[in-house]
Amino acid sequence: MYFARASLILAAVANAASIPNGKRDTGLEVTLTAAEGSVADVIATVKNVGAESLNLLTLGTFLDAAPVQKLAVVDEANAPVAFTGVYRSIQYSNDLSDNYFKLLAAGESFNTTINAAAVHDLKSGTYSFSAEGAIPFAIGDSKELTDNAVTYKTNVLTMAVDGEAAKLAPKAIPEMTIAERTVLQSGCTSSNKAATTAALSSCASLARAASTAAKSGSSSKFSEYFKTTSSSVRSTVAARLSAVATQCGSITSGGTKYYCTDVYDYCESNVLAYTLPSTNEIVNCPLYYSDLPLLSSTCHAQDRATTSLHEMTHAPATYSPGTDDNAYGYSASIALSSASAVLNADSYALYANAIYVGC
Ligand SMILES: *[C@@H]1O[C@H](CO)[C@@H](O)[C@H](O)[C@H]1NC(C)=O
Repeated sequence: MYFARASLILAAVANAASIPNGKRDTGLEVTLTAAEGSVADVIATVKNVGAESLNLLTLGTFLDAAPVQKLAVVDEANAPVAFTGVYRSIQYSNDLSDNYFKLLAAGESFNTTINAAAVHDLKSGTYSFSAEGAIPFAIGDSKELTDNAVTYKTNVLTMAVDGEAAKLAPKAIPEMTIAERTVLQSGCTSSNKAATTAALSSCASLARAASTAAKSGSSSKFSEYFKTTSSSVRSTVAARLSAVATQCGSITSGGTKYYCTDVYDYCESNVLAYTLPSTNEIVNCPLYYSDLPLLSSTCHAQDRATTSLHEMTHAPATYSPGTDDNAYGYSASIALSSASAVLNADSYALYANAIYVGC
């Protein structure tokens, strides 16, 4: 999922020394418990432990009603269980609908139930569930997002799952049989096809340059986005970016499929694009074509090239494991831990933009 962050960028530029999250006295405590009698439902109790009332962004975050990724799930051998829901890219502006916010007063809490069996293939056994991320917010009942994000890290919940019951549980994304095709699917108008082709080509150049920078460029620039200078992390990031360059570099071959039309019906207002990791399919929404430039030279601005780069990192066929949406936008992404940033799609898009722009 990907936010159009234009208004946030203006705020960030105007306020170059943005306030670190800690100084605002915000905090979220998220506690996971097992829902009795369910196949694999997890109750998340979300408590505002800071001093201010927060209007939390739900769209594309841990609080979204859509089957976006909310939990990291590992099996008994500590191996991650693949996510089979949807990563949606959302337009990040100051005129988001009220429906996309959840107001949580200081000291208050609420429960939300997450159906893990709908977006993970679970067998019989014991699984561990956890979540870590950063949620953009406005203060009080305002809808004007600050350029901060409130971070959270849950407990690790272990839960025994009955594989037979999990197998029968309805899936969030019904299986569809779409014939095997090459990367860029038919059904694009000629102008959308041209826009997509140009974006994928720019995506390839940006990813290639960012891969080189990750491998051998400035270590402080790398550390700004990925919170470490470890050479093994640098090679992982470089390898993923190089794999993105390969995927974006061809519209006629590769492991991902790319659509100009909303084949799965997940576009809505403010959604730019989405990725189904289980099938390695990427869909551009009408907003991708109408609201984004091909390539921006503004620091941390969104464009089609970095949106496609962001989506490509989600696909396990590009590089496995695929990335998650742990945070969106610069402030939230650089607030993540290193391990979380390395698996965060927007960290790659932002880093590639910064290497291209030179900011
Ligand atoms: C929220 O969930 C917790 C943990 O399962 C439970 O103890 C509490 O009663 C729930 N609160 C509400 C309001 O449902």
